[in-house]
Amino acid sequence: MFPSVRLRAHATVRTRRRRPGTAPAGRSASYAEFPVRSEARMPEAFRVAGLAATRVGPEHLDGLVGLDSDPQVMASLGGPRPREVTEAHLGYDMEQWEREGFGMYALVAEGGDVIGRAGFRSTVLAGVEEVEVGYSLLTGWWGRGIATAAVDQIIGLAGLTELALSIAATVGPANRASLRVLEKAGFVYERQLVRAGETMGLYRRVLPPGPWGEGPGVVTADGCPVEVYAALPADGRAKLVDDRIRAGSSVLDLGCGTGRIAEPLAALGHRVVGVDNSPEMLVHLRAAQPVKADIATLDLGDRFDAVILASNLVNHPDPATRQALLDVAAAHFTPSGVLLVERQPPSWFEQCHAGHTNTATIGEVTTILNVHARLGDLVSATVTYGLRGRRWSQHFTTRWLTDDDLRRALADAGLDLQGLFGPDGTWAAAMHARPR
Ligand SMILES: C[S@@+](CC[C@H](N)C(=O)[O-])C[C@H]1O[C@@H](n2cnc3c(N)ncnc32)[C@H](O)[C@@H]1O
Repeated sequence: MFPSVRLRAHATVRTRRRRPGTAPAGRSASYAEFPVRSEARMPEAFRVAGLAATRVGPEHLDGLVGLDSDPQVMASLGGPRPREVTEAHLGYDMEQWEREGFGMYALVAEGGDVIGRAGFRSTVLAGVEEVEVGYSLLTGWWGRGIATAAVDQIIGLAGLTELALSIAATVGPANRASLRVLEKAGFVYERQLVRAGETMGLYRRVLPPGPWGEGPGVVTADGCPVEVYAALPADGRAKLVDDRIRAGSSVLDLGCGTGRIAEPLAALGHRVVGVDNSPEMLVHLRAAQPVKADIATLDLGDRFDAVILASNLVNHPDPATRQALLDVAAAHFTPSGVLLVERQPPSWFEQCHAGHTNTATIGEVTTILNVHARLGDLVSATVTYGLRGRRWSQHFTTRWLTDDDLRRALADAGLDLQGLFGPDGTWAAAMHARPR
């Protein structure tokens, strides 16, 4: 990738910071037109597939010359380059890091050898300013999934830093290996373009600001496939909740989905109201009463003995949204009632480094978790669901909450953390704080 890169004049005007999804007045919010960049910088180093990925610098020149002069490596990248060309590219990449806060990484093996590069270049494709992803690897390192892992991770980091809403890639039709890497990383073919006299495919990966999902049938705004949730069996969570509330309680389940907690609770004799913003999820409720609404702005004018905020909604990446969810939950239970919150436990985040995968089978549904990137407290990941020969993907970013973070967030909603329960302390119980 990055065949015959034509380096631009260095006097790039940096794109002004814009919130994701917004476009200048009078222009449509086309991702292709506006590679929105924030002032946030990409991390300068990370690890991927057992390699150190480090912001390129002069110390990498000899390694990169070795890479660029290898005829096999360069076969689909415009042929071997003389040292001066590699030096010029390195100079450009280093300047871009200074100027724009992102760029190319040298991939360095144990022992210090540069075995490849991967990263982003700011470039102009067919007259459009783009952020382009590219990589190359020494042949001895091909076929080990390194390119896929590296592209996955830098795309994940770009999403976490809001570097760009859209990442481009160009690849020649004969470069099947790179096409596979792009497909695995979620790139979609856009059109052909001619670059330095060569016809290339332009591929694009759009990084929406929030979670999203894809696959057959209805997928909710937060990326959940309805058909999959309808097929998932009820689990032990309703029992965990039932153990903590009195018989015949009134219960409000926020983000109830198809009722995997709400329905068994209703069957146990509780009066359950389920809230969800997806009508397609709510049609699956039978005994629980459905309410179609957004949790963050919910005002039922009623208070319940117990409110449930399950399914890790509390790990929302945006602290303001998390607080809105907790404030609404707090406003909907009685002074002697309880809030039960299900979260991603700290033990889950501890193992969630880029490249981490986990496979599970729940009833008829298989799930594969792929973690793309971790930056501070944020983890970006994809869950792939399989059901009866069909597949769905749900992409999300989730924020690590330590026990103290959770305690503070609850306190900000006027609540006291009473205790943690369930496997790994997945659930928290909270009550209204006593006036001090
Ligand atoms: C991961 S599903 C879990 C559903 C259910 N709690 C379960 O365990 O099967 C999350 C559900 O929350 C809903 N949801 C997410 N954010 C929401 C919001 N802000 N307002 C209303 N519903 C929301 C989604 O539509 C989805 O049905």
